[in-house]
Amino acid sequence: MKVAFFSSKSYDEEYFNQINKKYGHELQFFETRLDSHTVKLTKEFDAVCAFVNDKVDAKTLKGLSKRNIKLLTLRCAGFNNVDLEAAEKHGITVLRVPAYSPEAVAEHALALILTLNRKTHKAYNRVREGNFSLERLTGFNVSGKTIGVIGTGAIGRAFIQLLKGFKTKIKAYDPYPNEQLKKEGVEYVSLEELLTESDIISLHCPLTPETHRMINGQTLKHVKQGAMLINTSRGKLIDTEAVIDALREKKLGSLGIDVYAEEEKLFFKDLSEMIIDDDTISRLIALPNVLITAHQAFLTREALEQIAETTLQNISGFEKGQINKQNQVGTENLG
Ligand code: NAI
Repeated sequence: MKVAFFSSKSYDEEYFNQINKKYGHELQFFETRLDSHTVKLTKEFDAVCAFVNDKVDAKTLKGLSKRNIKLLTLRCAGFNNVDLEAAEKHGITVLRVPAYSPEAVAEHALALILTLNRKTHKAYNRVREGNFSLERLTGFNVSGKTIGVIGTGAIGRAFIQLLKGFKTKIKAYDPYPNEQLKKEGVEYVSLEELLTESDIISLHCPLTPETHRMINGQTLKHVKQGAMLINTSRGKLIDTEAVIDALREKKLGSLGIDVYAEEEKLFFKDLSEMIIDDDTISRLIALPNVLITAHQAFLTREALEQIAETTLQNISGFEKGQINKQNQVGTENLG
């Protein structure tokens, strides 16, 4: 099949071209984001491959349908950027990569925790400048602390497995508790109890209408004084302004994020020579107890290989009329 890739980066081309040798599809990579303006590039293609910040709304989907595109294949797990009702209306099949390497994201969440806590990013810069002082680098032992895990799907579970070595107490919140985790000592509690009891809160649930801004001014009131909040899931799970207020009031002790509510305008781009036209992220960057990475939690060799493999399998399956139903998303997934 002839497939147009949007928002593509050098690593996408490298891994997809390598793995495509055994699938033999015709791949073309566009750096631009897919939206209602760029949809015209899809003329003469059979399928479109999109990523997390492509804007696959009703207008884009109408444009895809006009160009006879029948397959939208996402090279990611999240599908909150796709209007699934419009996709169904236009008869466009939507496939994704539900789980490529949950460990990649879980390990990044842990990296954010350890970096924020032990301030290795600051120590690195200090030492490079000949500053060997330890002032203001004090952290805490993760061992013995209570970690609140919101969402115990593939990534939440991988994160809990990593934490085992730290001998932490784990409280979880998920509308669908995992029986195996319960047997392993994970305690499922209400969201309120999780927020009240946890020293570190890590978000691993999808963005749905129900989880949109689940961390907001109201829920932050329950948070333990000085807790650390980690978000590697989706930016809109948190009300960023309310979180900034909580950091200023020292209600939240620190924040580590790999995702940001307005990331489409910023992430995956080199804007180092530009004036950042987003006051909220500028304020976050200015806070000493905030650590931001630009949606890189998935970025490991193993994950890139798996993403390419599953996406190309999705395309081949669709071409042969053998859609992998487990990888298909539709309005029934809207929660
Ligand atoms: P999953 O589908 O395996 O697990 C999600 C879990 O969240 C399920 O157990 C579900 O029951 C639970 N959940 C649903 N609604 C909830 C609610 N209201 N409160 C608490 N839990 C709720 O998904 P997976 O693979 O673990 O991924 C989780 C999220 O991580 C994805 O939706 C995506 O947004 C994000 N992600 C981020 C990446 C990054 O690079 N930063 C890469 C991959 C995924």
